[in-house]
Amino acid sequence: MFEHKHAPQSLPISTPLAERWSPYGLSDKHITEEDILALFEAARWAPSSYNEQPWRFILSRNTPASGTHDKALACLLESNQVWAANAPLLVFGCTVGTLAQSGKPNKAAQHDLGLAVANLTFEAQARGLSVHQIIGIVPDLVRALYALPETVEPLTAFAIGYAQTHANLPEHLKARDASPRTRRPLAETVFSDTWGNPALL
Ligand SMILES: Cc1cc2nc3c(=O)[nH]c(=O)nc-3n(C[C@H](O)[C@H](O)[C@H](O)COP(=O)(O)O)c2cc1C
Repeated sequence: MFEHKHAPQSLPISTPLAERWSPYGLSDKHITEEDILALFEAARWAPSSYNEQPWRFILSRNTPASGTHDKALACLLESNQVWAANAPLLVFGCTVGTLAQSGKPNKAAQHDLGLAVANLTFEAQARGLSVHQIIGIVPDLVRALYALPETVEPLTAFAIGYAQTHANLPEHLKARDASPRTRRPLAETVFSDTWGNPALL
């Protein structure tokens, strides 16, 4: 259905990696509780510096029964609200900034949150779901509305759902979903000997 989004690869990589992309069009189709649990179980088993597992998540279900989803949407920049409002799930990714043992800053906290979200993202992809990550949040509002402790930093959000062209999506976002995915070549990314010297043939 979204063939144009498959990563053009120099050699084959695992299917969920090749097929993952960040759709703006997300259907409101229900996500089962089993799938939701599996996503966070995948995140849970990510590696982390000193096994600190500095990631924490705040989950908001887009259902009338939950009654609190408006508060989650309010924590996104408007440019992200327009598309993320359709998603059945919205999650905030937070970091615990200090090490449990010493109380010193955990320099790897953001890195390790990224690893956990990556685990979650590829588990989602393997289950036919898509994850679209969001740096455009209002951190102070997340902090206030969800009563975060001082040591916890709200860093990102991500919308989870089934990729689908959505009638109420603004045209410029439909166009982004219709465009192919691009990446810088490996020769400009992986170096050896000196900076800028390509390491891979
Ligand atoms: C940490 C992070 C933050 C992002 N924040 C936003 C965002 O605020 N709004 C948005 O539309 N996309 C956001 N994205 C999605 C990126 O724009 C997208 O991953 C990138 O363009 C590559 O496209 P692809 O994921 O489809 O390969 C974010 C992605 C990441 C990893």
